[in-house]
Amino acid sequence: MTRAQELAASINWDDLIQAARDMTLRSYVPYSKYPVGAAAITTDGRLVRGCNVENAGYGVTLCAECGLISELVASGGGRLQAFVCVNGEGDVIMPCGRCRQLLWEHGGADLVLSTVSGYKTMSEVLPDAFGPSDLTDYEESRKA
Ligand code: THU
Repeated sequence: MTRAQELAASINWDDLIQAARDMTLRSYVPYSKYPVGAAAITTDGRLVRGCNVENAGYGVTLCAECGLISELVASGGGRLQAFVCVNGEGDVIMPCGRCRQLLWEHGGADLVLSTVSGYKTMSEVLPDAFGPSDLTDYEESRKA
């Protein structure tokens, strides 16, 4: 069993994927017409969700993961344990590069994702990630 499969074993993925699919119905996508829904479980058992929200200034678009992270922080913070995102057909998709960075910040290496190629850890979908420890390590090295 891979590390990702071990981490995935305790998660109710059917419920999590359904929550992500439900969120696609709330997406605001007049430009791409490509709804995305995201759902995650926190280590203390909360469900957090998001949908994409587009903008006439295309680059201002908020990915579904942005809403999810916002809900995570607004509902008390904590760490993400398991994550999935889907498109309007309900198919699992990969989080975009920018959103992998968002997920890394709040889940770290052991956040487990259901992906297009099975269960994966964050360290597999964002190898050698830049993250909070780069900043703290640098600060420490400057003190030494
Ligand atoms: N999108 C997300 O919401 N999350 C991703 O990880 C990939 C892309 C959205 C942004 C835009 O509204 C639409 O999908 C098409 O790019």
